[in-house]
Amino acid sequence: GPPRRIALFGAGTVGRALLERLAGLDEPRLRLCWLANSRRRVGSPDGIAPAEALARLQQGEPHDGSGWLPFAPAPGDIVVDATASEDLAAWHPRWLRQGLAVVSANKLALGGPLARAREIQQRVAAGGFYGDAATVGAGLPLLRCLRELRAGGDRIAGIAGVLSGTLAWLLDGYDGRDAFSARVREAVARGYAEPDPRVDLTGEDVRRKLLILARCAGRVLRYVARLDERGARAGLEALAADDALALGRGNDNRVAIWSCRYRERPLQIQGPGAGAGVTAAALLDDLLRCLR
Ligand code: HSE
Repeated sequence: GPPRRIALFGAGTVGRALLERLAGLDEPRLRLCWLANSRRRVGSPDGIAPAEALARLQQGEPHDGSGWLPFAPAPGDIVVDATASEDLAAWHPRWLRQGLAVVSANKLALGGPLARAREIQQRVAAGGFYGDAATVGAGLPLLRCLRELRAGGDRIAGIAGVLSGTLAWLLDGYDGRDAFSARVREAVARGYAEPDPRVDLTGEDVRRKLLILARCAGRVLRYVARLDERGARAGLEALAADDALALGRGNDNRVAIWSCRYRERPLQIQGPGAGAGVTAAALLDDLLRCLR
């Protein structure tokens, strides 16, 4: 068949590295036809040589308008999202709807709002192509492994992981002598960090990856507070769908209490844990107690 046309969004750390790979590969089945980052756009109906695109980007040359092919993809074209843009992530389901293939390093599509991730999964189930290998582990066969296990009838009981290359590198070998900020700048220079490194430093990047993994493994996310002999902690957990803490719906709070009396199976309390009505009723309850 004719070569598949590629639209590449993002020419930062990842986008440029992809252009370099494409330039070296010289794959006749793929033809780069659009390239856009936040400042520049390049497009040509005959395709742009990736090496030339790189050279133009290097020179900081803005597009001159004459060679600009408006982004008007047709079914079968491939959109590559190498940005961290929420605006672009919102387009992923629409692109799939238009019959385009999507290949994404952008975690905000599968790791963003649930409705968006669900629509992408549904489009894929209906035969669409969505490449997500770059979103978790930068291509480590993580999502692939989960899918293989599920396809073989396995049931994922737990996942634990170190999922931030930036945090791993920042903490590995840190001896406290240099300023931590200098090490953060180095992680940015090495191309490990997100465009906004605060996304790495706050754990937001890991949270997005956990979302993507959990959605792939069919698990339920809950923000769980735990108090036990290991101490007190609170954080996002990917629970099995039949886990006691995962059973609440809506704004339900659900708490399990282990005690001498309830040692084997915990005492469990569940119900709406927020809202004007229930909260005011609790206040009134205390007021009336106060009268006694
Ligand atoms: N900023 C991410 C990390 C890149 O440090 O892990 C890979 O997703």
